[in-house]
Amino acid sequence: MSNQNDAFKKLIAHAKEYGFVFPSSEIYDGLGAVYDYGPYGVLLKNNIKEYWWRSMVQMHENIVGLDAAIFMHPKTWKASGHVDAFNDPLIDNKDSKKRYRADQLVEGYIEKIEAKVEKEVAKGRKRFGESFDENQFRATHPRVVKYAQQIEDLRKRLGSLLSEGDLAGLKALIEELDIADPETGSRNWTEVRQFNLMFSTQLGAVAGEAGKLYLRPETAQGIFVNFLNAQKTTRQKIPFGIAQIGKAFRNEIVARQFIFRMREFEQMEMQFFVRPGTEMKWYEYWKETRMNWHKKLGTPAEKLRFHDHDNLAHYANAAVDIEYRFPFGFRELEGIHSRTDFDLHSHEELSGKKLRYFDPETKESYIPYVVETSIGCDRMFLAVLSGALQEEKIQDSEGKESSREVLKLPAALAPIKCAILPLKRNEERLTQTAREIFDHLKQSFHCQYDDTGSIGKLYRRQDAIGTPYCITVDFETLENRTVTLRDRDSLQQERIPIDQLESVISEKTALKNLL
Ligand code: GAP
Repeated sequence: MSNQNDAFKKLIAHAKEYGFVFPSSEIYDGLGAVYDYGPYGVLLKNNIKEYWWRSMVQMHENIVGLDAAIFMHPKTWKASGHVDAFNDPLIDNKDSKKRYRADQLVEGYIEKIEAKVEKEVAKGRKRFGESFDENQFRATHPRVVKYAQQIEDLRKRLGSLLSEGDLAGLKALIEELDIADPETGSRNWTEVRQFNLMFSTQLGAVAGEAGKLYLRPETAQGIFVNFLNAQKTTRQKIPFGIAQIGKAFRNEIVARQFIFRMREFEQMEMQFFVRPGTEMKWYEYWKETRMNWHKKLGTPAEKLRFHDHDNLAHYANAAVDIEYRFPFGFRELEGIHSRTDFDLHSHEELSGKKLRYFDPETKESYIPYVVETSIGCDRMFLAVLSGALQEEKIQDSEGKESSREVLKLPAALAPIKCAILPLKRNEERLTQTAREIFDHLKQSFHCQYDDTGSIGKLYRRQDAIGTPYCITVDFETLENRTVTLRDRDSLQQERIPIDQLESVISEKTALKNLL
């Protein structure tokens, strides 16, 4: 098994063992690609949402919030193009009866070539040691150059087959590359056909097509249909945005990789309405602003990159992904799309209601263009968790070495901000003081009181859930009302007066440090 797989399995096991993410309805063996957030998971997820919401809505005078219903009039999805075009190319293996996304089979083939490139680079690094120049190696090594060209050609071909909806061409490509079922090795494939990703249900007692409703596959449409309601009630002038966090549902064909690709997930989307012709300026602005939002969390630059779409969605005239290096490689974390006036225009046409903005400066009425930023909250959760989990060797105060699993989460996102730990659990004067501190601090933060083990064990437990600060109540506390404050990452302990705890921890863990 590769190191990447090992690291990912460890992450999934850690998320379960420490109460972050559980498989849905686990007692019935789970439900494919549906997950539940546990006691610490829900706190971390709420903090991620809060960080996004505040940086969008609180920090921008011209962005307002919305919480639209999941159910929408079925015509919404006709207008948005989802009924006709929200499809993935599906292929079945006739022998194994396994179902795949045809484009992902080709992607898997490309990933194998990428792995060969990385292997060559690793060999080069080993051979040349200190003097190794990776950029030069990638640009000149004959095998690496050949592989890179192959990757580029395949990506281009795949992109154009997808955007042309050429299903026969996709099947021919799979055959040309001699791609086998990854699980069984069989090459006995069906034709490729389109599979619509929307879940449907029935409204009230109305049977058949008339009562057919969809679970929204993106939150954005709730924003589009409310565009004038929000603009008029808040007297916004263009350019302005509407932000929303909410559930979305997609009947993904292949849903692997834990919470990376789920059938029920949450999106954090913002539609920014601009004057037609200015959309590229705002597209660049939001690209940079969103990348900075990620970097402010302390994510190393080499774990983030932009990736322009090879295959534009039906509504976009420009689109880029912010990709994050997950344990299984670089993948899409967030999309920034210039959606033109596609959505508002289609809704205007199908509803017969005007969705135009009167521009007081130019005295014109027009349908605004839209630049959208769209990030999956669960994917962000996975990025944060995978960036945070580390296994470390540490030394205790007597120099004894041990290892710990620690979640080095940004303090502002950590589920529990501080833990209050009496040095000895059988010493009532210590436990009582620790409880008093806890009762005071819990009014300001999520914190924990714990006296159920040795102090070393209690620290390990807090490290594993990412608690940035541990407060230890010891015998000196009884003499001078000071405690030790242990920093999760540096392991430094400082002594501070009890009455300064609230302000010190507030300062260190405040979300405003990120804004
Ligand atoms: N409104 C535009 C839109 O929905 P998208 O690229 O299809 O665009 C936006 O989705 C984001 O939603 C993605 O970047 C990803 O983070 C998240 N996302 C999409 N499908 C997902 C899934 N099945 N599971 C988890 N997150 C998903």
